[in-house]
Amino acid sequence: MNAPFPAPADPGFAELIAARPWLERHAMDGLCLEGVPLAAIADALGTPVWVYAAGVIRRRLAGLRAALDACRLDSHVHYAVKANDHLAVLRLFADAGAGADVVSGGEFLRARASGIPPRHIVFSGVGKTAAELRLALGEGVGQINVESAEELDMLSAIAHAMGRIAPVALRINPDVDPGTHAKITTGRADNKFGIAYADAAALYARAATLPGIAPVGLALHIGSQILAAAPFRTAYGRAAELVRALRGQGLAVERVDCGGGLGIGYRDEASAAPEIFAGAIRAAFGDLGLRLLVEPGRWLVGPAGVLLASVVLVKQGADRRFVVLDAAMNDLVRPAMYDAWHAILPVSAADAMAPRSPADVVGPVCESGDTFARGRALPPLGAGARVAILDAGAYGAVMSSTYNARPLAAIAMIDGGRWAEIRPRQTPESLWAGETLPGWLQGGGT
Ligand code: LLP
Repeated sequence: MNAPFPAPADPGFAELIAARPWLERHAMDGLCLEGVPLAAIADALGTPVWVYAAGVIRRRLAGLRAALDACRLDSHVHYAVKANDHLAVLRLFADAGAGADVVSGGEFLRARASGIPPRHIVFSGVGKTAAELRLALGEGVGQINVESAEELDMLSAIAHAMGRIAPVALRINPDVDPGTHAKITTGRADNKFGIAYADAAALYARAATLPGIAPVGLALHIGSQILAAAPFRTAYGRAAELVRALRGQGLAVERVDCGGGLGIGYRDEASAAPEIFAGAIRAAFGDLGLRLLVEPGRWLVGPAGVLLASVVLVKQGADRRFVVLDAAMNDLVRPAMYDAWHAILPVSAADAMAPRSPADVVGPVCESGDTFARGRALPPLGAGARVAILDAGAYGAVMSSTYNARPLAAIAMIDGGRWAEIRPRQTPESLWAGETLPGWLQGGGT
């Protein structure tokens, strides 16, 4: 007996494709991304393989900028590198003149390696180390978002010793519930992020007196995958109040970094329109003469990526059909970690037309959590059939691990009808290439 369909019914393949104009299904070529048959990439590179569409990323960046410009804001996009940190993806943003939001020395160096100038980089994060702060200051980072009094003192001492002035935004915690998954909420009082709202004004005033520190403004980021305008409006309203209060005390506030968090449509929900984000920013800060930074990640790159996988086998369990893929939770962890729903489409046109029945879609990793979907309506999908897991461009490859000694998957980028491999599949040997045996174990083995 098959598991019952979940209610409400999942959207059908045609609806999922119609909501994503960059995807098409051809009778001969099967599923295509920006005109390139995904089967061709899977044939050439094998599976699992991530595929990113450059054109989709460029168009989304242009759409976000257009929405911000329509509100006549002095706004600057700083792409959140954590969503997808591949150099080729970062290069698209660098070429378009966008900046970066980074949260580690590694991300800072990646952004630099892709050609993003240091003055266009914002360094966020709750636990930056002294070495990371030195690296960023030494290169002339554009802004450091400070998340605590403790960090402010540490940064002051480091900057002073280096003879540098750190441009600092204080990240406030506005205590707003963004109504998203608990693991991706960041702006509530019980989250580790930011400076308590009630303490921010005094700390800003103190920052102005510290050596090596130039307070330039405020920053906030309330969470991720936010689809409604209300949480942004509430949080930005609180930040604007603080800007007025600080200015009332004679303190200069030039910038507000509005964070990211704009959600996308994974199932049947619509992607958040950039206009709601821009509108919330305009409503709160429009008349304050501020430089406004935004740091979205997911919204810019999420829809631009797919994970292609092949069916290893289909297994009939006691009460359900399991479609076992060659991709697993070590590749895309979002379903296991956040119960995230990702669309799964057959790549071949014939598979897409075949009658469907419910199946659980799983990977080969030895954990029951290694499940991409439950009770999903899918065609028979024999061994070797290919599927595309959609909206995997953000928090996909960046969150992969090599658990179960599974090499990292290959990556390809499509751009204007061309495509290229942009990361080869990791070889099994490279998994242990950096490992050494301690002296007392050498010479053994067979
Ligand atoms: N700025 C800061 C300070 C952040 O912490 C984040 C995300 C962003 C910007 C970008 O947020 P976005 O626009 O992408 O929502 N791994 C989770 C998402 C974690 C987000 C963490 N912070 C997921 O797969 O859903």
